[in-house]
Amino acid sequence: MNRYAISHWPDSAELLERLYRLANELPIHQITREKMQEYLSYFDTKCAKSKEMITRAQEVIPGGVQHNLAFNYPFPLAISRADGAYLWDIDGNRYIDFLQAGGPTLLGSNYKPVQEKVIELIRESGPVTGLFHEYELKLAELIRSHMPSVEMFRMLMSGTEACMAAVRAARTFTGKNFIIKIGGAYHGWSDQFVFGMRVPGLGPLDAHGIPAGCYQFTQEVFPNDIDALQKRMEENDKEGGTAAVILEPLGPESGTRPVLRDYNAQVRQLCDRFGALLIFDEVVTGFRMGLGGAQGYFDVKPDLTVFGKCVAGGYPGAGGVGGRRDVMVCYAAGIGGPMGKRAMVGGTLSANPLSCAAGYFAIKAIEEAGAHLKAGAAGDRLGKGLQEIFQRRKLPFVAFNHGSICHMETGAAMLMDIKNPNIFKEVGARKKVMEEMGAAMTSQGIITLAGSRLYTSMADTDEVIDDALERFDRIFGDIEIKG
Ligand SMILES: Cc1ncc(COP(=O)(O)O)c(C=O)c1O
Repeated sequence: MNRYAISHWPDSAELLERLYRLANELPIHQITREKMQEYLSYFDTKCAKSKEMITRAQEVIPGGVQHNLAFNYPFPLAISRADGAYLWDIDGNRYIDFLQAGGPTLLGSNYKPVQEKVIELIRESGPVTGLFHEYELKLAELIRSHMPSVEMFRMLMSGTEACMAAVRAARTFTGKNFIIKIGGAYHGWSDQFVFGMRVPGLGPLDAHGIPAGCYQFTQEVFPNDIDALQKRMEENDKEGGTAAVILEPLGPESGTRPVLRDYNAQVRQLCDRFGALLIFDEVVTGFRMGLGGAQGYFDVKPDLTVFGKCVAGGYPGAGGVGGRRDVMVCYAAGIGGPMGKRAMVGGTLSANPLSCAAGYFAIKAIEEAGAHLKAGAAGDRLGKGLQEIFQRRKLPFVAFNHGSICHMETGAAMLMDIKNPNIFKEVGARKKVMEEMGAAMTSQGIITLAGSRLYTSMADTDEVIDDALERFDRIFGDIEIKG
């Protein structure tokens, strides 16, 4: 049996062309104004308790929510229950959950066998002691057993921290400074990575509150442009060299701009040639793509891998770096690494027993149930169904999926080209279309990530997906060109 969640590799070149056209050449399509009013009335009539709670929250929480993914139009919903494929808000409305917490709950929300193990652990040791616990070892060994590139593993609290730590180890090990990322990718919100986010070429546009010096050594190159990467590395060699290239192996933003099939292998070759480390950010792809991660699927061995989300099984404290022993020893707690240098990392709650046990039992459960394959099959069914709807309804929208990571591009704001002269005029309108899509879907009982990304889980049976597709079909029946 295929050990990876991708049953077929979509033709990235053809997809990129269609996505380009949707975002840069075709007129913006939106939900009809009349229908949108109807969808918005749902929030006033059916979500009164959420509205009241969020209004109160706005007094004490900036923006009313603590989490970017929860910041939805017309107002965020307060969720009180999660189970498998479904969420319930405090007004008692049920939703099909294609957010899946932003990716970590591959087993479905609140998966009982893992929950029971976590409760058992808490009863015994509490969530944290600050000292070593058996599950730190068990989790590290389990990850290593699935990913040969991970000779050693350091657990941290988030993907953001793990990206910072990976860069620090790369710089410590190589003695070089430059970090090259692929434009549009998200590697957390640390000072050096709020650069080239969402739309390739944007550079420091989002870097409010970050002095320019912080990203002095961060560079971006355009996705899939291997020549540009080579040139960048040649230039860097004249100024001390590249410490690492960091990338999301499916392409920026979880494959929103899909990677060409052989790109990762080409980057590996360049890194070897220029003495730079290759860092795979597998925060989303590990273990959604499979227990061997995207690196297993592409058969490319990174020097370092960044983990997040699934690594703590949907529980808090989800971050980590794994990789080559000679690089990883740079983190050695309290003692010097190679060359007597030490890449400093820390965290009072890092690698706490709760996070490690949750990660261990969740990964074990994924392995036993083949959760990545089941979620991948659900993603295939959803992706195919959406493509069929767009085709039948003659809509320019684009749906595609890499296993359980599904993309549904309508406003396609992130796919705008930096060279498009209308970018600053249109990007707001495109974002608005996506926001409205998200609201319409919520009103029809489906939660998505920002109206454009959908994560499936093992809990998504054919019935769940078919039910969702019927709801999507209704929404896509009322689309007009924006006037
Ligand atoms: C590819 C990627 N890297 C890093 C991160 C940051 O992880 P965290 O939100 O745990 O800080 C994310 C979060 O969505 C991500 O998608």
